Amino acid sequence: MLKTAVCYFSGSGNSFYVALELSKYINIHSAYYIPNFDISKLHDYDEIIIVTPVYSLNIPKIVQDFIRRLKFEGRFYVVLCSAGMFGGSARHVKRLFRQCHLNLGCIKRVIMPSSHSTVGFTPRFLAKAIISIASGQIKRAANNISKNENKNLKLRRVGKIKRYVGYSAFSAHLSVSDSCTKCGECAKICPTKNIKESHGTIVFSDRCIACHACYNRCEAILYRGFKGKTYVNPYVDFKAMR
Ligand SMILES: Cc1cc2nc3c(=O)[nH]c(=O)nc-3n(C[C@H](O)[C@H](O)[C@H](O)COP(=O)(O)O)c2cc1C
Repeated sequence: MLKTAVCYFSGSGNSFYVALELSKYINIHSAYYIPNFDISKLHDYDEIIIVTPVYSLNIPKIVQDFIRRLKFEGRFYVVLCSAGMFGGSARHVKRLFRQCHLNLGCIKRVIMPSSHSTVGFTPRFLAKAIISIASGQIKRAANNISKNENKNLKLRRVGKIKRYVGYSAFSAHLSVSDSCTKCGECAKICPTKNIKESHGTIVFSDRCIACHACYNRCEAILYRGFKGKTYVNPYVDFKAMR
């Protein structure tokens, strides 16, 4: 029997949730969080499923860099989670795999609530409804992955792979409120190690990918000096994500 692993990146829990749901239908041996993953472990597997959010009609830089580092003869599948605007993300993924000479099976899409809460907030009742609708998409994705089908994927024409101009600027607008206890949780949460405590103050550096993990998951983190409404996937246990 084929040995399958899932590698996921997730800022606010949606892609993690999708990765866990897939394991209900596919025999997945292990799930790995991309920022902490040691790629030498890949050789233990025959197939890898990558579950990633869509950021700005592409996949996050941290996932692109992960794919560029891979040396693996087995087959990959990719599941894209977005708030509905996939744009050319699937084509970007396909091109990236071709450039890296990796064997890509199918790319599937799942619509999840928006985690981009500094731009548009999804209320909890709506988020739950979207997640419930997504369960059908996840089941179909799992079915297609098991059969390696690549149905219904219309790939749009896209320009050059987009650079993440402006994303490091997101953290330039982040700060902490007086309620910050310097617990260090934000530094642990940040997938790019962009947050540090220095001389009793929290410092945001320029490696931010705007995943919103810190802003959505810590009450004390402000954007432009203000705490707006936030979104996290209501069904995941973030402690299991590390
Ligand atoms: C910086 C950023 C950019 C995003 N860009 C898009 C986008 O271009 N299209 C879209 O449909 N959703 C976009 N989203 C929403 C996420 O793709 C979506 O909420 C996804 O489920 C988040 O997954 P996660 O919780 O695993 O990070 C964006 C979210 C963030 C934080």
